[in-house]
Amino acid sequence: MSKSETGGENSANAVPGGPSPQGTGEQPPPDIDTSTPHVARMYDYFLGGKSNYAADREAAEQIIKVMPQVRNVARVNRRFLIDSVRWLVETAGIRQFIDIGSGLPTQQNVHEVAQSIDKDVRVVYVDNDPLVRVHAEALLATTPNTTVIEGDLRDPRALLERRELREHIDFSQPVALLLVAVLHFIDDTDEAARIASTLYDALPSGSYVVLSHATTAERIKGAQQEAVAVYNRANSGITLRSLAEVARFFEGLTPVGTGLTYLADWSLGDPPSPTRRDDGVVPLDPSTLRDIPGVCGVGRIDR
Ligand SMILES: C[S@@+](CC[C@H](N)C(=O)[O-])C[C@H]1O[C@@H](n2cnc3c(N)ncnc32)[C@H](O)[C@@H]1O
Repeated sequence: MSKSETGGENSANAVPGGPSPQGTGEQPPPDIDTSTPHVARMYDYFLGGKSNYAADREAAEQIIKVMPQVRNVARVNRRFLIDSVRWLVETAGIRQFIDIGSGLPTQQNVHEVAQSIDKDVRVVYVDNDPLVRVHAEALLATTPNTTVIEGDLRDPRALLERRELREHIDFSQPVALLLVAVLHFIDDTDEAARIASTLYDALPSGSYVVLSHATTAERIKGAQQEAVAVYNRANSGITLRSLAEVARFFEGLTPVGTGLTYLADWSLGDPPSPTRRDDGVVPLDPSTLRDIPGVCGVGRIDR
């Protein structure tokens, strides 16, 4: 591999025991398309990871150029995910997670956060990017109660019927469904709403949904158009929506804490807004949060 194919300086998401991260001069795994930017690998780059290739980094850098806050968006989004998972295990008593659009392994993966509280928590990761499966399988080789499926959110019924999912998840018990930074990769809003309700209908009362989504922001409209154009050249385009549009995916859920709100304002209740903690994942400066064009929320399925 040429030097230009090697990863960034940060080894944040080197996979312990897994395939060597990019940057060590190794070839990519077979059947991995490195010529087209992939949204999972661009996100990995935003987070400072090394599971990305030259095409991903070039695309990601084009976005950083017009929207420098995008790295913060990724970090604050991760903080939302981590805090939600911790709360779901510690406070809501959830012991099963389905994480769709899970992304490449990084720091504080869902199973690590959840199983550090209770080692018996079950986690199923789902992603349609084959590199996610390759890296996650290596990471999870010695991790019981956790599995990864290469599958597509666009066919939720097929996903729900997957044997690996059925073997791992007891659908008679509450489940947390994570749809974190993934529904914006479904371009049709009606279809995205249908996908969400198909998945919610499969879960028993007392289950939870954890959702985040990139939003439109009038103030940075031009930059967002340029960023969307870059995504349109990647393996998946992105569709930015307003808070009101994203609220359709939250319909029927009982909001927890602030409910569906901008990432900067989100809180599970008391103490408020853990996103303001300076723990290396998210910078302390709250003013940086104000620039973040994304919404998030946790909701409960009550029937
Ligand atoms: C921005 S990353 C988010 C990762 C993680 N959920 C987080 O928020 O930190 C989006 C992930 O969704 C995956 N993805 C995009 N479209 C998908 C689809 N139709 N089905 C399954 N996964 C998808 C991408 O491959 C990528 O790994």
